[in-house]
Amino acid sequence: MITEFGKAKINLTLDILGVRPDGYHEMEMIMQTVELADKIELKKIPEGIIFKMDATEIFGGDLIPADETNLAYRAAKAFNEVAGKNFGAEISLQKKVPAAAGLAGGSSDAAAVIRGMNKLYETNFSEEKLCEIGLKVGSDVPFCIVGGTCLAKGRGEKLTKLPAMKKMFVVLVKPHGEISTGRAFKSYDAEPAKIHPPTEKIISLLNAGNYDEAFKNFSNVLQPVALKDFPIISEYEKIMTANGAKVALMSGSGPTVFALTEDEATARKIAEKIDGSDAQIFVTRIG
Ligand code: C5P
Repeated sequence: MITEFGKAKINLTLDILGVRPDGYHEMEMIMQTVELADKIELKKIPEGIIFKMDATEIFGGDLIPADETNLAYRAAKAFNEVAGKNFGAEISLQKKVPAAAGLAGGSSDAAAVIRGMNKLYETNFSEEKLCEIGLKVGSDVPFCIVGGTCLAKGRGEKLTKLPAMKKMFVVLVKPHGEISTGRAFKSYDAEPAKIHPPTEKIISLLNAGNYDEAFKNFSNVLQPVALKDFPIISEYEKIMTANGAKVALMSGSGPTVFALTEDEATARKIAEKIDGSDAQIFVTRIG
């Protein structure tokens, strides 16, 4: 049996450069994995794919499909298609990462299944090949296969590894309600951003270890879209910065807001200040 963890991701920046001929958007994002993760166990079975999921720990868990449309299941299928095999696998997924939250929860499961199948069946595919399989399942899956700190361009699959971000504490606040990524992009197109994050400058600042200056420039062009339905995002940001966060921003297409702090006590204080009846709150670390 193989155990893999599908880590959640946050966007230190998210920029949209335009719409591509294939309908997807040309992205420029600094992505970062965190320690909060789903757990995936893979067992060899003679044939076919059996998928089991426990999503009782997360809000909105009942919205996640527990069938062959789940990204974890689709990842195993995509793996077999590329391998030209019919590798059997029983996949058991324990969800910890909220869904439709801007944290790549589903994509991280797909990535974990792809990495796990490669180990379970000793196929020895390169990381590049695993990422090719991942892209068939979703735009964020290649990053979730690689993890760490990356610049992601194209649909999100053109990855450049960046020096590892320092190991700060991360508070994740996921308000009740979900955001469909596809719909967020459509709303963005109706009102594209006029101000974009200075991605190159941020990378230089991070490379130089000048974190405080880098934090001032973090931004996400999808945040104004999410704010229309989730004005509480601004409230969370205010509470986070007023209580010692070095930076507070929405992740991905939202609605999760993250705060980065230097120490655990500050992270716990922020988590306490936010009304837990309106949101699911996690204290985790860069990972
Ligand atoms: O690739 P994935 O299936 O995760 O994307 C979900 C939706 O987000 C797509 O159907 C598309 O509408 C939108 N998307 C996009 N441009 C990207 C990534 C996603 O328009 N680079």
